[in-house]
Amino acid sequence: MKKNIELLLNELESFGLNNDSNKQEGRLKMKNITKDTGEFLSILIKSNKAKNVLEVGTSNGYSTIWLAQNFLDSEGHVTTLEFDDNKITMALDNFKRAELESIISLHHGDAGEFIKNQDDQIFDFIFLDSDRKQYLIWWEDLNRILKPNSLMIVDNVNSHRQEVDKFIEIVKNSEAHNSLIVDVGKGQLMIFKK
Ligand SMILES: C[S@@+](CC[C@H](N)C(=O)[O-])C[C@H]1O[C@@H](n2cnc3c(N)ncnc32)[C@H](O)[C@@H]1O
Repeated sequence: MKKNIELLLNELESFGLNNDSNKQEGRLKMKNITKDTGEFLSILIKSNKAKNVLEVGTSNGYSTIWLAQNFLDSEGHVTTLEFDDNKITMALDNFKRAELESIISLHHGDAGEFIKNQDDQIFDFIFLDSDRKQYLIWWEDLNRILKPNSLMIVDNVNSHRQEVDKFIEIVKNSEAHNSLIVDVGKGQLMIFKK
């Protein structure tokens, strides 16, 4: 990993942990992925040779930087979705500091609206880390815009299992997918679209 990106990720990791332990209001927390989740996503993107990544839930861009740094020495792009103005300002600044602006498109608005308006089978990797109450509603479109033989990863399935129980059940019962929960970070649901 490039030194400036490694230093920035370390800084953002500390910032997120300090910030979230000091803020009470949920919307003011960064709720970043863990560092090992970043490594995990990176390995999956590289080994699957993913080129067109969608992230749902940018926050201040910590996970986006983990995703995008994979495309510094190979072709690829990350589209990331966020509706909170303050977090968008922070994320754009962080993308600039990481010198990754040309690899990332940040869409400012509601993720559900964005997902609904995408063509079929355009993304070859999806990382879902947003409003868990919406996952069941978004599932059909998320699956539609994911290419076959591609992965979708869902964060927080161990830390917030009750909130995603129904979603996990639907995925597990789908004959069109293989799925598995792995104990990385806050728990990752791996969904492989056959
Ligand atoms: C868990 S945080 C994302 C953390 C980020 N992936 C990271 O690890 O650095 C979830 C984010 O999703 C955003 N969000 C929630 N519902 C959304 C929606 N319907 N459309 C767009 N963004 C949404 C929140 O504002 C929040 O910043």
